[in-house]
Amino acid sequence: MTDYAALNAKLNALTEGVPHPIANLANASALIWQELPDLNWAGFYLLEGKKLVLGPFQGKTACIEIPLGRGVCGTAAAEDRTLVIEDVHCFRGHIACDSASNSEIVVPLRRDGAVVGVLDVDSPSRSRFTEADRLGLEAFAAILEKAI
Ligand code: SME
Repeated sequence: MTDYAALNAKLNALTEGVPHPIANLANASALIWQELPDLNWAGFYLLEGKKLVLGPFQGKTACIEIPLGRGVCGTAAAEDRTLVIEDVHCFRGHIACDSASNSEIVVPLRRDGAVVGVLDVDSPSRSRFTEADRLGLEAFAAILEKAI
């Protein structure tokens, strides 16, 4: 089980006082990649108009644009809520960037209350993400919102 208090303290230390949003997102994706077991992708999509555009990430190359409302990322952004997907193959419209992905969590990032992007974390295992992961990664996103 991930120690989210420790992980989020590391994110705070890494981003505090750093005025470079892309650098902060890059380090945040690396931190998740280093500290969470059993992942095949971790990173960000950033909202540009009505599309999400690929941001800093770790893992295999990925889809560059996702329309709002499409796939897990586009749905989480459009509905402004975290989505925990136990089996991505059962999610209508899932966009398979990496065929190794079997479960996924997507957490919206907000600025001034409006969605500006999402954190997307994928796993090769089914049902990889628990309620503890949801709470921990929502707290992670809340720290990042002050750093982007
Ligand atoms: N799984 C996502 C697409 C992005 S990749 O997994 C990196 C989705 O359906 O939104």
